[in-house]
Amino acid sequence: MKTQTFKVMGRHVLLTFFALCMLCSGVRAQLNPDSYAKSCPSLGQIVRDQVTIAMNAEKRMAASLIRLHFHDCFVNGCDASILLDGTDSEKLAIPNLNSARGFEVVDTIKAAVENACPGVVSCADILALAARDSVSLSGGPRWRVALGRKDGLVANQNSANNLPSPFEPLDAIIAKFVAVNLNITDVVALSGAHTFGQAKCGLFSNRLFNFTGTGTPDATLETSLLSNLQSVCPLGGNGNITAPLDNGSTDAFDNNYFKNLLQGKGLLSSDQILFSSDLAVNTTKKLVEAYSRNQYLFFRDFTCSMIRMGNIANGASGEVRKNCRVINN
Ligand code: HEM
Ligand SMILES: *[C@@H]1O[C@H](CO)[C@@H](O)[C@H](O)[C@H]1NC(C)=O
Ligand SMILES: *[C@@H]1O[C@H](CO)[C@@H](O)[C@H](O)[C@H]1NC(C)=O
Ligand SMILES: *[C@@H]1O[C@H](CO)[C@@H](O)[C@H](O)[C@H]1NC(C)=O
Ligand SMILES: *[C@@H]1O[C@H](CO)[C@@H](O)[C@H](O)[C@H]1NC(C)=O
Ligand SMILES: *[C@@H]1O[C@H](CO)[C@@H](O)[C@H](O)[C@H]1NC(C)=O
Repeated sequence: MKTQTFKVMGRHVLLTFFALCMLCSGVRAQLNPDSYAKSCPSLGQIVRDQVTIAMNAEKRMAASLIRLHFHDCFVNGCDASILLDGTDSEKLAIPNLNSARGFEVVDTIKAAVENACPGVVSCADILALAARDSVSLSGGPRWRVALGRKDGLVANQNSANNLPSPFEPLDAIIAKFVAVNLNITDVVALSGAHTFGQAKCGLFSNRLFNFTGTGTPDATLETSLLSNLQSVCPLGGNGNITAPLDNGSTDAFDNNYFKNLLQGKGLLSSDQILFSSDLAVNTTKKLVEAYSRNQYLFFRDFTCSMIRMGNIANGASGEVRKNCRVINN
């Protein structure tokens, strides 16, 4: 039995999930929330304080930090490979270049952790904790993070180039989740992370004027959002300008993302197809509807899916890096 608290409409609500995390466990039995209970008892507080500081400087940083954990876990498992600098750096892969952000914040968190407990806590665990705190400090659920990951010794830029793309059809996106032992529930629940953060015009502007050579915008895009986006991202404009992934509640972690999808207000094609594509009818659409109606259900499933994503491993040996950007020695 797991107990969890989170805030809904300003009230603290206590949810008790019977056996929920039976479903989440199994992949990496060696991970344990108490891994550093003796070796770094202040770890949880240090990470949370540093994420708070970063979010006070820029609210969006919460979204950027959870995305780093996602892009880490899908490439060589959750091993902080995304943090490595160098010629094969995953930071240079197309989905990350000029897009993944928060590396300096991770450095700052790591420095604070090293100061308290030198050489003990992996960078991969710091990413998992920072992702959790980003969600809970933005109004979302809070869960116990299993710890004990090791940092990998190599980056994998090719694999990072294969991260899910916003231009892919739903069957391809599902296949990329299945390839790391996640399923359709995980696709929908984890896509709910697009309830906060921003996306660059260049990653959705193909929907705004001449979608797939039709001469017209993406017909699934709601007309008022379409005209707002057409002025934010004009034809031939700067593809680096950003728009909120969830313009209804830009910085809050809530289920508004799913309400948007029911109204044609998904920003990325990969968002809207969870509700509007033909394939969605038999795969993702019912879950989108359920999460749009029931934030508890979304928070419960999101928690479980984050734990499942955090369990992705590649089986290779690793270390506890001293500096998240380079392997030791
Ligand atoms: C389902 C497949 C997914 C696709 C195709 C996708 C694609 C994208 C794209 C294109 C952006 C905008 C990047 C930019 O403008 O530079 C983005 C942002 C973001 N993604 Fe995803 N994503 C997916 C799944 C996820 C998952 C599983 C998570 C986390 C659990 C996540 C969390 C985020 C967050 C929080 C942002 C905003 C980051 C920021 O503001 O810095 N995404 N995603
Ligand atoms: C995905 O896996 C979880 C955990 O095992 C399970 O509860 C859920 O029903 C699965 N979803 C699908 C669509 O198979
Ligand atoms: C839309 O794109 C298609 C294919 O690239 C092109 O043939 C067509 O002329 C474009 N239509 C408009 C209205 O720009
Ligand atoms: C967000 O919504 C506001 C109205 O609430 C609108 O003025 C603005 O243009 C929207 N931004 C985008 C990028 O759609
Ligand atoms: C976006 O910013 C990057 C990094 O500053 C730059 O290399 C790129 O040319 C910019 N793209 C556009 C369309 O302005
Ligand atoms: C969805 O499933 C039903 C019943 O199995 C089937 O008849 C239908 O063709 C499926 N639709 C799509 C788009 O796959």
